[in-house]
Amino acid sequence: MKITVIGAGYVGLVSAACFAEIGNEVMCVEKISSKLDTLKKGESPIYEPGLSEVLKRNISENRITFTDNMDDAIHFGEAIFLCVGTPQSETGKADLSQVEEAARQIAQMATSYKLVIEKSTVPVNTNKWVKRTLERYAKDGVDFDVASNPEFLREGSALEDFMKPDRIVVGVESERAEKIFRELYKPFTDQGYPLLVTNTAAAELIKHASNSFLALKISYINMVSDLCEKVGADVELVAEGMGLDKRIGRQFLNAGLGYGGSCFPKDVKAFVKIAEENGLDFALLRETDCLNEERRPKFIEKIEEILWINKNKTIAVWGLAFKPNTDDVREAPAIDIVNALSDSGATLNMYDPKATETFKTVVPEADNMSYCANAYEALEGADALIVLTEWEEFKEADLAKVKSMLKLPIIIDGRNLYDPKEMKKQGFEYYCMGR
Ligand code: UDX
Repeated sequence: MKITVIGAGYVGLVSAACFAEIGNEVMCVEKISSKLDTLKKGESPIYEPGLSEVLKRNISENRITFTDNMDDAIHFGEAIFLCVGTPQSETGKADLSQVEEAARQIAQMATSYKLVIEKSTVPVNTNKWVKRTLERYAKDGVDFDVASNPEFLREGSALEDFMKPDRIVVGVESERAEKIFRELYKPFTDQGYPLLVTNTAAAELIKHASNSFLALKISYINMVSDLCEKVGADVELVAEGMGLDKRIGRQFLNAGLGYGGSCFPKDVKAFVKIAEENGLDFALLRETDCLNEERRPKFIEKIEEILWINKNKTIAVWGLAFKPNTDDVREAPAIDIVNALSDSGATLNMYDPKATETFKTVVPEADNMSYCANAYEALEGADALIVLTEWEEFKEADLAKVKSMLKLPIIIDGRNLYDPKEMKKQGFEYYCMGR
């Protein structure tokens, strides 16, 4: 099938690469010229395991091309995926101006039937606005369908999530659109992966409702974690005990610094807003968001309870990305935590396996803030180590070496990487979350 993908951001690029990988011909539009040059060389502008290899293979086999020419791209595919940004506006509402612009351009340029598919996360009933925009600007006699096909890709395992999906959700309003999706996703349904066909509004809701529910689960366990600290229980065991109930499940019950990234914080706020616009107060999700935002100042308090005064102390920081296996630092807890520690007069030696460069664009190097080339370099002369992202590299660290390099053997772990008993045995003063 010939597919057009508008927007080579995270979702667009992974989707385009994977659609090509399963044998489709894909044209992907990217407006930013530096990014476009990188993509044309087969390089990925983002760090995502496996993505560069898939891009290179499909470029060389002519299944994927990149362009900044909207006209070419719109004529190319019958199915057009909208993967443009839907950032959060000041009110918490999603800013849909890029969706509207893309819909308008499709209407103005298309000369034959197009299935316009929302893949970016959008508020419920955005499809109606897209449809109205297409109809307003369309040339006579050109038909359109609008559909929703939300993505459920996790950064760091996006290719696997695409290729081995828990479910594929498509929201359609016509048989023609459903037929196109059934053909497109046949390689998956043939392998037994479930395809759920709904109307467009339900598909839009499934995405927001799923992400908000996962965020809720995280805030829930974080609250339980705080209670564990007060009563002397271990949140890891509580999570294990809860997770053994198949109705609950163990995933997304990891207590710590809370959720970040480009999706959960934005999606929870947007979902609250959608409910509000429909006369409903989603207080449950407002609380989810508040609890999450409190995680960061609470961790700072924890550090102060342990170190007493931060001024003139050197703190090693392991982990800057919002989660492991990504260089993404959007809404990363590390941003707030590092800035607060710096404001309180600490000197920071920071290290992340992949996210140093992206983090530097948000928190520039300064007299009291330096970025280290490896994890151990960050420890030199440090009064304590704080762990902010659960990279595998940190789990496998040589703890004897860590102890010998730190000035004081203090570790404050925001992600529960190590076994407290083992740490005690090794002579560390080890603090973690909810244990
Ligand atoms: C998420 C959804 O999982 C994905 O389906 C959607 O399409 C995009 O948003 P992503 O943001 O890449 O994916 O990361 P995810 O692995 O879901 O983690 C989100 C955040 O929750 C991270 O900050 C992570 O550290 C945090 N988290 C996750 C926890 O704090 N505890 C957990 O148990 C799980």
